[in-house]
Amino acid sequence: MAKRITVAIDGPAGAGKSTLARRLAARLGFLYIDTGAMYRAVALWAGRAGVSWDDRSGLEQLALQADIELTPEGLVVLNGEDVSAAIRQPEMSHAASVVSAIPGVRRALVIKQQRMGEANSCVMEGRDIGTVVFPEAEVKIYLDASPEERARRRVKELETRGIAARLDEVFEEMKQRDERDSTRPDSPLRQAPDAIYIDSSGLDENQVEEALLRIVRERTSNGKEVQR
Ligand code: DC
Repeated sequence: MAKRITVAIDGPAGAGKSTLARRLAARLGFLYIDTGAMYRAVALWAGRAGVSWDDRSGLEQLALQADIELTPEGLVVLNGEDVSAAIRQPEMSHAASVVSAIPGVRRALVIKQQRMGEANSCVMEGRDIGTVVFPEAEVKIYLDASPEERARRRVKELETRGIAARLDEVFEEMKQRDERDSTRPDSPLRQAPDAIYIDSSGLDENQVEEALLRIVRERTSNGKEVQR
């Protein structure tokens, strides 16, 4: 019988999770689920609706009510609107990190993530996938890179999208975000004990993709009996 497979990829900001998770999912024919996009969508809605960052129950209500769709083409659709570009504005990184520290927001989104992931084989990336969302995932990866390298990559990514950014500012913003994401009491960013650690500093995307593919194949009977 074909088996459903979950690949969990966690790690700090700018480690290359999104790019690699998307590429890995395409290679395996699995669904790609970007959970950070969901926290970003809730943050975007809160900003537009004028809900204060201190209003925990108001933010929880938004997270419960948010209709978030991640399309196979890679679009993020919030309540019927394509918000793919809006959630990638630099200020949304900070806002998403703030709302994601609220336990009620996490509870609401984790349930949605589990529903999205349980029907199909998927590559799901975030901060707590291997520890909280799918602790039984067949494959767990903790993808890391040095803080300098992560900041450089983020600046490059912003530039390709036409957003000018200063390396020192991006470095500082990322440091603060990682600090908040790893020290919050609820589901902090942490490597699961059974996750495989990969430091992608100095590796190009092809090398990391091949390493990930090898790990998945080793852990899933060579990828043969996998339900897509
Ligand atoms: O991966 P990202 O940069 O798009 O995520 C934005 C923020 O969302 C991140 O700073 C922390 C939060 N997040 C989280 O708490 N848990 C996840 N599974 C994914 C993201």
